[in-house]
Amino acid sequence: MNNSATSSPVVRPRRLRETAALRRATAETRLHAADLVLPMFVREGLSEPAPILSMPGVVQHSTDSFRRALAEAAESSIGGVMLFGVPEHRDALGSGATDPQGVLNMATEIAAAEIGDSLVVQTDLCLDEFTDHGHCGVLNDRGQVDNDATLERYCEMALAQAAAGSRILGLSGMMDGQVAATRAVLDEHGYPDVALLAYSAKYASALYGPFREAVDSQLVGNRRSYQLDPGNRREGLREALIDVSEAADIVMVKPALSYLDVLSDVAAASPVPVWAYQVSGEYAMIEAAAANGWIDRDRAILESITSITRAGADTTLTYWAIELAAWIHEGR
Ligand code: PBG
Repeated sequence: MNNSATSSPVVRPRRLRETAALRRATAETRLHAADLVLPMFVREGLSEPAPILSMPGVVQHSTDSFRRALAEAAESSIGGVMLFGVPEHRDALGSGATDPQGVLNMATEIAAAEIGDSLVVQTDLCLDEFTDHGHCGVLNDRGQVDNDATLERYCEMALAQAAAGSRILGLSGMMDGQVAATRAVLDEHGYPDVALLAYSAKYASALYGPFREAVDSQLVGNRRSYQLDPGNRREGLREALIDVSEAADIVMVKPALSYLDVLSDVAAASPVPVWAYQVSGEYAMIEAAAANGWIDRDRAILESITSITRAGADTTLTYWAIELAAWIHEGR
């Protein structure tokens, strides 16, 4: 038997893996700082930043620490920041979300003034941080999230955030029709240039756990009546296509690493940019394993973001954005 083909292969993919320079020159996926967005939390009434225990290295900002962190973000030349507000008082309607003096709208004004020329200032458009029941919308008299009543609140929020200087509104509440409703009201009120980032395929995930601490969530129960079932791949694509038809400027898949198939589907079909959110639980899992010495932290972070990019994300929201940008500049 002639086994020369197996003992001396002609096709040798390893050729391009031999040296670091070859691997770098032939890499299929490259990271850019401009493709990273940093989520930031600003908490009302703080004089010092407060650590978030389940997200080591991430804090709830005071106004002062927020300003310093914005300067650092601008310095690192990431693409933008996504702002979340943590109010002191909450009510059933989430009134703080539409108050021009509310924590998120105030933070947005600061960010627009301080870094609005260099980074894209973006805001979370959702009621959950502001409601006393912790749901992403308002409730009807049976205690269920009322889709269409919630749309009215989202429209009011959209106007408040646009007035405060947000350039991209991150619609994360998963109400039907939220893109069309907010687009219409923005256009009517003179904000045709404010863009909409639709959290289209947002799954009901256990990986939002640490975020609930980050925003001091009041939620009892779950969000399964509005966020997607983790087993539903086709529905993720459908949600993205609906949002595109409602004039979403960007669509998102969230969480990221557990949903790379959905990300890949959406990236293949979407005529608009596709973003991914590497969520709090994804951050916490790597940090916790690394803190125990069970995983190489930096390599795991780079591998995760590279995989999300490879699967089709044009931009990724990640709590490691600043650190990653530094690594990218160093050429890691
Ligand atoms: C909703 C919102 C959530 C996250 C971003 N926007 C929480 C949720 O849907 O429960 C989670 C982000 C993360 O876990 O990092 N306002």
